[in-house]
Amino acid sequence: MANVGTIGTSQITRTFLQACIASRAFKITHVYSRTKTKAQQLIDDLFIPQATADDDLDNFLSAADLDIVYVASPNSLHFQDVKAALLHGKNVIVEKPAFVTTAEYQEIDRILKEHPELHVLEAARHLFDANYLAASEQIKAFPEVTGATLAYMKYSSRFDDFKAGKEPNIFSTKFAGGALYDLGVYLIYAAVDWFGLPKQSTYSATKAANGIDLHGLARLHYDDFDVALIFGKDQQSFLPSEVYAARQTLWLDNLGQPSIVRRYDGPAVFQDLSKPSTENPLVDEVNAFSLMFANRDEAQFAHYWQLTGQVNQVLNQLRASAQIKFESDQN
Ligand SMILES: NC(=O)c1ccc[n+]([C@@H]2O[C@H](COP(=O)([O-])OP(=O)(O)OC[C@H]3O[C@@H](n4cnc5c(N)ncnc54)[C@H](OP(=O)(O)O)[C@@H]3O)[C@@H](O)[C@H]2O)c1
Repeated sequence: MANVGTIGTSQITRTFLQACIASRAFKITHVYSRTKTKAQQLIDDLFIPQATADDDLDNFLSAADLDIVYVASPNSLHFQDVKAALLHGKNVIVEKPAFVTTAEYQEIDRILKEHPELHVLEAARHLFDANYLAASEQIKAFPEVTGATLAYMKYSSRFDDFKAGKEPNIFSTKFAGGALYDLGVYLIYAAVDWFGLPKQSTYSATKAANGIDLHGLARLHYDDFDVALIFGKDQQSFLPSEVYAARQTLWLDNLGQPSIVRRYDGPAVFQDLSKPSTENPLVDEVNAFSLMFANRDEAQFAHYWQLTGQVNQVLNQLRASAQIKFESDQN
């Protein structure tokens, strides 16, 4: 069993660690935080006394009993964290979106080519969800795809602070936040995974005064059809997502975290394709990643790394089309 250590102590790291515990997929050996007491608190809360709390990044990354680093820092810090981990000889699981700019992806790609024994996996959790996989199977079985409408819009718990004049990381251009990079990325992942790279991508965004996108509509243009994306962080949507195949429709209640999947063969005539969901939304992903590392599955590593690059490319095309600038663009 591979040894894992984490960067970041927010809710998603807690959920990741709980998924590791529930699945027994990885052994947790280190928890890093800029504040040692926060790392220790997480260790105590989750009853993982075998793990060491670290507040020195270099010591953490140099630990002999650490094989894989899970990076859940703010988006704009992923690049430096992933690079540092690789240069210390560690594999990486990095939260979505793995990188901000295309130059960041290319630099990590260069390092990986120099170190073919190391791997980076982007934690796009929905791709490993049983219901997402059921949808994927049906989409492959359709004789043709004629279009799709994909939606993911959630009112952020941090938007009230933003409206009150604070700048949480997820609503800041310094940390590469905003609707596209936070939630739009889930939809882009699905589109690129199901249909490949679009020929052209455009994004019409509603922005806040600091330049961050709050919500918007994007269009991915393919040879024979278009995919419409709707996503946002300042309002709440209950829209499902759909993939069209002429008379037939693949329907998911919530693409970000699907629990109901249906194939409609006509109005009100549907087949339920749903699978049981895990309570912790990261368990399927953690199990899939653990298998890849255990089997040294080079084909899977290469497949997901290529997908990471393609999603990064589309994110940057959409960002350019909506003229969204991040501080990372200056690096
Ligand atoms: N897959 C999912 O379902 C999911 C869900 C939520 C978030 N995410 C992803 O997880 C990542 C983290 O998101 P988040 O909303 O949790 O971010 P966040 O709360 O802003 O920051 C995450 C952690 O990074 C550290 N950190 C915060 N500000 C920092 C700074 N200025 N410099 C260095 N470290 C800093 C903090 O840990 P310490 O104080 O302990 O150092 C914090 O707990 C993002 O990439 C996001 O997209 C994924």
